[in-house]
Amino acid sequence: MKITALILAAGKGTRMNSDITKVLHEIDGQPMLANVIDSCLGAGVSDIVIIAGANMAELKTFASKYYPGKKIRFALQKRQLGTANAVASGLTAVKAGNKGVLILSGDVPLIEPSTIRGLIKEFTAKKCGGIICTSIVKDPCGYGRIIAGTDGVIIRIVEEKSCTLAEKEIRLINSGVYVFDAGLLKKYIKQVKQDPDKKEYYLTDVIGIMAENGIKIRQKDTDRAEIAGINDRVQLMEANTFKNKKNLEKFAKNGITIVDFNTVFISGKVDIGRDTVIQPFTVIKGPAKIGPGCNIGPFAHIRPDTTIGKNCKIGNYVEIKKSTIGDHVNVAHLSYIGDTEIGDNTNIGAGTITANYDGVKKNKTWIGKNVSVGSNSVFVAPVTVGDNVTVAAGSVITDDVPSGSLAIARCRQTVKRGWKRK
Ligand code: UD1
Ligand code: MG
Repeated sequence: MKITALILAAGKGTRMNSDITKVLHEIDGQPMLANVIDSCLGAGVSDIVIIAGANMAELKTFASKYYPGKKIRFALQKRQLGTANAVASGLTAVKAGNKGVLILSGDVPLIEPSTIRGLIKEFTAKKCGGIICTSIVKDPCGYGRIIAGTDGVIIRIVEEKSCTLAEKEIRLINSGVYVFDAGLLKKYIKQVKQDPDKKEYYLTDVIGIMAENGIKIRQKDTDRAEIAGINDRVQLMEANTFKNKKNLEKFAKNGITIVDFNTVFISGKVDIGRDTVIQPFTVIKGPAKIGPGCNIGPFAHIRPDTTIGKNCKIGNYVEIKKSTIGDHVNVAHLSYIGDTEIGDNTNIGAGTITANYDGVKKNKTWIGKNVSVGSNSVFVAPVTVGDNVTVAAGSVITDDVPSGSLAIARCRQTVKRGWKRK
């Protein structure tokens, strides 16, 4: 079945209290909208339309940065008149022959590809007007409540603001993730009336209208953690904590020791070898690859485009960015290594810095195999150091050092015997 995904992202996100549009706030090291798009693509849905509003320029910049070369389409919702109005703005982008419309919210970022795939599969198999991902939650506050008939078919959805006291007790909630028959949705969305208080058109009202017209809308039970909606920064914080723990558990199952899951943060595409130990207060941002048997942290910061070989030690207060490090390398204390290649069996002394930025552009440092770098050395890039080199402590290396040599680049110490203060 041909499916078009509409991702709702035009909302102002007032509750975020931010100059940045809500869906670009980060979860798992990337804008939450990217998490939604990734899940969509992961589920095999590649016809994606993002509904944008005043944030159109911001979202287009985001798409060209994160999805260069991917045909992601945009639809404009001129005024933010609610979720039904947003969907209506996007429906014009759904081609006539398309059977299904998948609706996702840019602020429901933890949704998994498998859930979307399951939803579409069920929709394809069962005869109905649509399916809504629902969940029973402990605290339903803020979510639309599902009013279902005895056969599980949905009668209507009531938004928090319109709930009676009894309806407020309902813990079965709307996730904001749906699949609809395109033709029926196009027909009935026109009948949604403006909410008299909020002056918005609620997408959730279309469900009641469809039900009244004898159309079956089913529900699909979904893991409640996946459908957490992010409307403010407390929810953003909770979602990040949840997602990080989930990521760390995956590593733990793959044979990596995370000493303290409360203070280790790993995001993006990160590959870690078996028996590597991640000490507390360590941040790793992918794409990154860390070999087996390494010891990382405490207080280490591994930034994107870093590859670390096997059995390395990356110690406390060490930051590594866009660098390739061989096997059995130690960068054990207080260092910055950026835009650098380091060969096998090299030891980088405490406090070593690669000065990669000349004020205009970033430059590379090459350090060979079996090199011993004395403490507090600086490599002023671009610079190349061969194999089997020893660099004396406190050196500022500005010139290339050939293999097998000793480089000393500092003033000799002067001692004036018997010297007295005047
Ligand atoms: C919505 C649902 C609610 C559900 C919850 C799940 C409605 C009326 N309510 O509530 O039933 O339980 O999501 O998280 O749909 N947006 C637009 N244009 C608009 C308004 C919103 O594109 O004019 C976008 C927002 O950017 C957001 C999404 O639609 O990504 C949902 O809007 P939001 O205001 O967060 O709705 P909720 O109050 O969370
Ligand atoms: Mg929301």
